Amino acid sequence: MCGIVAYLGKSDAPSVLLNGLRRLEYRGYDSAGLAVMDGGRMVVAKAPGKVAALNDRARADWPDERFNRAAAGIAHTRWATHGPPTEANAHPHLDNSGDIALVHNGIIENYRALRSRLEKLGHVFHSDTDTEVLAHLIGECHHGDLFRAVCDALHQVEGTYGIAVMSARDPGKIITARCGSPIVIGIGDGETIVASDAAAIIGHTRQVIYLNDRDIAEITAETVSIRDLDNVPVDREIAQLAFDASAAEKGGFEHFMLKEIHEQPEALRNAIRGRLDFHLGTAVLSGMGTSPRDLAEISRVVLLGCGTSLHAGLVGEYAFEDLADVHSEVQQAAEFRYRNPILGPHDMVVAISQSGETADTLAAVRESNQKGAFVMGLCNVVGSTIARETGRGVYLHAGPEISVASTKAFTCQVSVLLMMALKLGRGRRLSREEGIRLAREIESIPDLVAATVRQSDHIAEIAAHYAGHEHAFFIGRGPLYPVALEGALKLKEISYIHAEGYHAAELKHGPIALLEKGTPVIALANAVPGQDKTLGNIEECRARGARILGIVTAGDSRVTGLMDDFIEVPPCHPLVASVPSAVALQLLAYHIARHRGCEIDQPRNLAKSVTVE
Ligand code: M6R
Repeated sequence: MCGIVAYLGKSDAPSVLLNGLRRLEYRGYDSAGLAVMDGGRMVVAKAPGKVAALNDRARADWPDERFNRAAAGIAHTRWATHGPPTEANAHPHLDNSGDIALVHNGIIENYRALRSRLEKLGHVFHSDTDTEVLAHLIGECHHGDLFRAVCDALHQVEGTYGIAVMSARDPGKIITARCGSPIVIGIGDGETIVASDAAAIIGHTRQVIYLNDRDIAEITAETVSIRDLDNVPVDREIAQLAFDASAAEKGGFEHFMLKEIHEQPEALRNAIRGRLDFHLGTAVLSGMGTSPRDLAEISRVVLLGCGTSLHAGLVGEYAFEDLADVHSEVQQAAEFRYRNPILGPHDMVVAISQSGETADTLAAVRESNQKGAFVMGLCNVVGSTIARETGRGVYLHAGPEISVASTKAFTCQVSVLLMMALKLGRGRRLSREEGIRLAREIESIPDLVAATVRQSDHIAEIAAHYAGHEHAFFIGRGPLYPVALEGALKLKEISYIHAEGYHAAELKHGPIALLEKGTPVIALANAVPGQDKTLGNIEECRARGARILGIVTAGDSRVTGLMDDFIEVPPCHPLVASVPSAVALQLLAYHIARHRGCEIDQPRNLAKSVTVE
């Protein structure tokens, strides 16, 4: 989604800002812009499309000295919400005087009322955006002190924001603030860099401060001073950024998605390492902050998430019920937050989010906290808002996920949920022997995934048969049903093929009407309980001419002759089978998208982290 970079240093601000924006490209965006201070003047460049287009525009319009000399600036990648991705709607936006420039992530909900009030005062607007209203409002509130002006303006807005503001009247300082949209401040040597995502900061410094909601900071190249919106000074600790710069490079792979698929065995090892106790047959997840007594008191597990994280939760639901004998349910976070959920201290809420910034999941966490539930986070990004606001939980340690299509986060989420269920199960009904057996199964996941990844070339060949279709169905049952949903999501988001995931039994309740000769049906037909029924459903599809691609267990003779194509995954526990099977579908989606020539890492209209409702 939108990205912010702001910089104060000695020189080279445009280059620093453009590099920062490139680091944020993976988040998804459709236009970009930057403003720099040049000899007391605000200079702005914007372009629809990619950061490369912005770079060309700025270099064409600005003399070389401006690139080398400018020491301060703000920049943005925009993911359109209010108005199409045009140059006029791209950020930064200026106030009425043209002296104040603003970049903004989030949504100003009362922008219409504010705009009409400002228009009556003579303000002239040049875009369709909510953001421009905030720029004008800050200008209206500016009576000599930029910090004060931003503070006063923010008191009047409703909605969410992460912002960076710069004024020609206050050179050498930038004001940044957050409410619902992340801001991290990197403290360098004689330079300060602000961003909405730590990825833009690496290469400058590892020392960072994460702003909390309602924080507002005044920064210079040397100093950071933070207050809350009531102008009371606040102390925020300096954290060390644990971000491996190589994670932001493709490392010889054609796409980040392919790199991240291949990284999975290692990512899974990192997610699992040190977390299994083979003596007691349990999982050691100290971040859950629970004693066996606490665990025994949990009467319900509620798993929350969106998109891929929601699908991981659906696999978790089976695991909690199967292993821990506890009532478990999955809720789409956006729905949950508005439905007045019934929660209490014996409900364990697990908020699943790779980014830890998804607006709906965060709101659901706040609602759960409010209702006194036992809330924990399952996040990948260390220090993310959900991780901080839940205060307890488990990190994935999957490493940065750059590709918009989530891959390694999903498999690590499922693996961690299995460990959580094992821990809960051992506090309840699972015997030590069963626990040890399951711990061994979980331990084997990285190898199962490595064996699946090794089939990438074979999957690429199969993909050629499916790349020309415009519709596809994915079917599965039990813990493989969520994998069918995830497989369909992967395919549609990167190849633009219309794909639907269904419970295998559900096809004949309607969707089977769409099957005709050659329609692809991708069936999770692993040798796990329920396979008989799935094989029956496959027969029903074959009888209607569908082309069947099966995900099957290696060496399973029962599937012979039933499928046009198949991808084998190693034999394993039914719950664990969801992980390598999902990897097979990630590779299938990747190779189909590649055959179709799609922009795999930055699919159209999509954003990596969805920070608006
Ligand atoms: O960061 P989160 O896990 O909270 O993100 C949730 C979804 O936006 C995300 O999983 C999305 O569905 C992926 N792009 C799918 O590949």
